[in-house]
Amino acid sequence: MRVFQVEDGWSIEHVRLSTRLDPQPGASQVRIRMRASALNYRDRLVPVRGYGSRMKTLPLIMLSDGVGIIDAVGERVTHLKVGDRVCPLFFQTWTSGEPTKPRLSLSLGAELDGTMAEWMVLPAEGVALAPTHLSDLEAATLPTAGVTAWRTLVTEGRVKPGDTVVVQGTGGVALFALQFAKLLGAFVIVTSSSDEKLARARELGADETINYLTIPEWGKRAREIVGSDGIDHVVDVGGQGTLGQSARAVRTGGTISLLGVLAGGTMDIPFGPIVTRNVRLQGVTVGSADDFAAMARAITQHQSRPVIDRVFGFEELLSALDYLASGKHFGKVCIQH
Ligand SMILES: NC(=O)c1ccc[n+]([C@@H]2O[C@H](COP(=O)([O-])OP(=O)(O)OC[C@H]3O[C@@H](n4cnc5c(N)ncnc54)[C@H](OP(=O)(O)O)[C@@H]3O)[C@@H](O)[C@H]2O)c1
Repeated sequence: MRVFQVEDGWSIEHVRLSTRLDPQPGASQVRIRMRASALNYRDRLVPVRGYGSRMKTLPLIMLSDGVGIIDAVGERVTHLKVGDRVCPLFFQTWTSGEPTKPRLSLSLGAELDGTMAEWMVLPAEGVALAPTHLSDLEAATLPTAGVTAWRTLVTEGRVKPGDTVVVQGTGGVALFALQFAKLLGAFVIVTSSSDEKLARARELGADETINYLTIPEWGKRAREIVGSDGIDHVVDVGGQGTLGQSARAVRTGGTISLLGVLAGGTMDIPFGPIVTRNVRLQGVTVGSADDFAAMARAITQHQSRPVIDRVFGFEELLSALDYLASGKHFGKVCIQH
């Protein structure tokens, strides 16, 4: 079968179109004919071994997100059948419950081979039924960015109607967070470097927007917009470069969810106000199979659709990664197999 993999060295130059033997499912496994994949910021770091020593030895098949149709099942698989359309789950051993070291230890496209293959063979517990109203490309975006936003706002965040939420940027996770926060009945402020993207965010339901380049003190501005002690929940994707303003924005007793380090990976903000104002800092790393199922149920009931910016062909993975790095995208960048 055709695969796109990091082949014989950790660098982007070693990411190549290649072949592997067609896989066969074992007794408790399913084989999936892959139909689409989707990119995440993380996939830019994988070729340079950005996730450290736990990563799979080479070769490593790229990308964590995708969808496909089951075309073979092992004899012990009972709850899935040939023809089911499923998404491989980001964490293969986090079924439910709290995050633990073992549950966070096996993710696709890093410790395990990813979705850029004609077929994937996975344990039946490692896949989930995709919402039927979504296209293949839309469904492919759910396991990483969708589940991360869901766990952030619902499982961990417990956002409720009337809450105020700030979402940073207009990338993949951010637009899922905007959509889910609106679905939960929150008042949502979106920040972006681009006024054009902010106009599109308003079309998607953002109540207010702030350009973080023209208004560097966007945390103060967010606080002024809600006219109270501050924001209930800030979804932070920047890390070092954004946490100061997130702390400025958040209310006493509010939550800052720490999802990413787009603007640096160490903390250098004053901790006094975080402590005395009882601010909760919550790290989030994707989520469990239960999170996926709850998210899929909500998406189905509300007939929500992920935002797809651009689609590339299977052979165009490197161009797709370059495009993601350009930061021009609004929402998800996908691969049609
Ligand atoms: N923790 C998890 O489980 C998890 C899961 C998925 C992703 N992540 C992390 O979340 C982050 C976003 O991932 P993604 O896949 O959504 O990336 P992405 O689609 O590439 O989104 C990047 C967008 O983030 C915005 N951005 C960049 N720097 C910013 C800054 N200083 N302040 C505010 N916004 C900024 C930009 O939006 P504008 O163009 O609108 O300015 C940019 O387009 C990454 O750090 C990623 O590793 C974490």
